[in-house]
Amino acid sequence: MDIDIVSVFPEYFDVLDLSLLGKAKSKGLISVRAHNLRDWTHDVHQSVDDTPVGGGAGMVMKPAVWAECLDELLGIHTESPDRPILIFPNPSAPLFTQQDATELSHAQHLVFGCGRYEGYDARIPVYYRERGVDVREYSIGDYVLNGGEVAVSVMLEAITRLLPGFMGNPDSIVEESYTGGNALLEHNQYTKPATWRGLDVPAVLLSGDHAKVDRFRRDEALEKTNRIRPDLIAQLDCHALSKADRKTLIELGWEVSGDHPRRIS
Ligand code: ADE
Repeated sequence: MDIDIVSVFPEYFDVLDLSLLGKAKSKGLISVRAHNLRDWTHDVHQSVDDTPVGGGAGMVMKPAVWAECLDELLGIHTESPDRPILIFPNPSAPLFTQQDATELSHAQHLVFGCGRYEGYDARIPVYYRERGVDVREYSIGDYVLNGGEVAVSVMLEAITRLLPGFMGNPDSIVEESYTGGNALLEHNQYTKPATWRGLDVPAVLLSGDHAKVDRFRRDEALEKTNRIRPDLIAQLDCHALSKADRKTLIELGWEVSGDHPRRIS
């Protein structure tokens, strides 16, 4: 996967050489290029922002500088059918989810544009969408950061760890939270010793009975999701639930006879 990142702080992405992402780079699974947006400016101050039209605080990133940069990185003047997907982190956009990460992990080429200041001129995504580019805007959470760099790191990590060959054990991806059509929070995990500072791991996990272990973990995932993220329970597909799942959900106060669970107590 080819990844281009545009930022006024491209050094921020030196950190991608660390940890698993660095390994993916050295294994050749991903190639990451961080660009400085100021390289596409022509004025002596290399300015990338201007005051907001209509007034207001802060500065807005100028469309012309972005366009010179993005035309080049997106190959906008070429006929190539393999256009990259263009992604802008934006606190006022839809939330980035595991489903988005999964979808984007199948892309050949991603271009991320990091906004700063009060954001970027709203005509930039409009312009590229009108030219047939797949433009995405995502928020990583209901809080405001100083710029898109941290959000791009978060998205990149979520996307690249799904690439085939990235994880030592791909099964760990299948089991984790938010994965699959019926997203639940993951059950608790324990390692040895079985007793630590007076706290025991649940006895069933030591039983060697795989069916019992699976049921215990599934029930724990249902209970935990019910407690922490009941909105995820309400999105489950009742038709995909096993009899045992339904029993647990009924005990937790859900009605499961419709398409999705409904809270009744
Ligand atoms: N830029 C600033 N805050 C952000 C957020 N929460 N998500 C994505 N991009 C951002």
